[in-house]
Amino acid sequence: MRKVRVELGQRSYDICIGHNILTGLARHLKGLSVGKKGAIITNPIIKKPYGDPIQQHLIDEGFSITTIELPAGERYKTLRSVGKIYDILIEKKFERDSFIIALGGGVIGDIAGFAAATYLRGIPYIQVPTSLVAQVDSSVGGKTGVNHPLGKNLIGAFYQPILVWIDVEVLKTLPRRELIAGMAEVVKYGVIADTRFFNFIGENYKNVLSLEQKALIHTVARSCEIKAMVVSADEREKGQRAILNFGHTMGHAIETATDYRRYRHGEAVAMGMAFAARLATVLGMCHKDVLNWIERVCSSIGLRTSLPAAGFETLWDILQRDKKVINERLRFVLPVRLGEVKIVDGIGRVVLQKTVQSCYSSYKNVRHEKRVSGHHK
Ligand SMILES: NC(=O)c1ccc[n+]([C@@H]2O[C@H](COP(=O)([O-])OP(=O)(O)OC[C@H]3O[C@@H](n4cnc5c(N)ncnc54)[C@H](O)[C@@H]3O)[C@@H](O)[C@H]2O)c1
Repeated sequence: MRKVRVELGQRSYDICIGHNILTGLARHLKGLSVGKKGAIITNPIIKKPYGDPIQQHLIDEGFSITTIELPAGERYKTLRSVGKIYDILIEKKFERDSFIIALGGGVIGDIAGFAAATYLRGIPYIQVPTSLVAQVDSSVGGKTGVNHPLGKNLIGAFYQPILVWIDVEVLKTLPRRELIAGMAEVVKYGVIADTRFFNFIGENYKNVLSLEQKALIHTVARSCEIKAMVVSADEREKGQRAILNFGHTMGHAIETATDYRRYRHGEAVAMGMAFAARLATVLGMCHKDVLNWIERVCSSIGLRTSLPAAGFETLWDILQRDKKVINERLRFVLPVRLGEVKIVDGIGRVVLQKTVQSCYSSYKNVRHEKRVSGHHK
């Protein structure tokens, strides 16, 4: 089993990563200072294969466990779901040392973490992430929360778990599209912090996607190490933690432009990363090779990097609503080279428009080249 430590003083915790370790959680929990009463929060897809065995092992170890099922899907990431959790915790008389286990993808992790942060002003919780996005990203770092009808993740709290328990074996039931989307966040870690890891992904993505144990554990562990390092240095995103948003500014705009329906979050992030790299080349901040490498690795994995045909004005309008806009000028995380990014403020309309246009024309050229080379055959 690999262990990664998130160093946050008294709120430090371990991320344990292994293969077939799910039911070992019960024994591990006995060594932590939590009470006897716990709730597993999960959804119907995950409950049967993973929730039930965990519950049984916890009961065998002397815990008293309630399972709370929420419907699956982003549209249930609401205060209503949190309310449903409170109702059950109150009814079952959960106390300050009672604990919550968040068992599922990022949606369950965010909701359950927020319920833990707010019930009795905070009770301990454990993240047991089951999607790749949740294993490499959302379960680490303590961002919890729910959506509001007027926007995503608008209600929330920073609240760290006491343990993150990752069994990569559960990814065998994750739909392939979700697995591929999760790889975008993995590529992101390589670009923002570690060239060697970026190259590793470029060379080993097939093994990771076929869930080969060694490659998969290294991928998840290295991603968690990088996230842990960034979060330890800046827990509340006062500065450097924002580098984790590489690919997310344009990614979010694409998700919004397509009503959060067409693309998985990771799919939009891949387009956003390629866009940011192109913007950096337009600004003369990085060599075009960086853009080419990001595009190549993402498309090998099966992630599209070209922008959807949303049109500049639509994207610009959405980008204007971004929290970090000052005088119509935007913040982007941009690559300087592979393994290093910079937070750049003050990106204006003209350069963005130029980059969007250059995206569209470069893809037209690629299509044109393909047609031309087709003629020669
Ligand atoms: N808190 C953070 O730091 C952070 C970071 C990134 C994303 N997020 C949030 O995470 C959410 C996205 O997470 P996600 O991509 O995991 O989506 P998700 O939780 O909706 O999971 C995707 C789908 O896969 C299913 N699933 C999960 N694990 C499975 C498994 N092992 N086998 C079979 N099916 C499985 C889920 O039931 C769901 O249908 C968004 O709400 C996003 O805002 C939070």
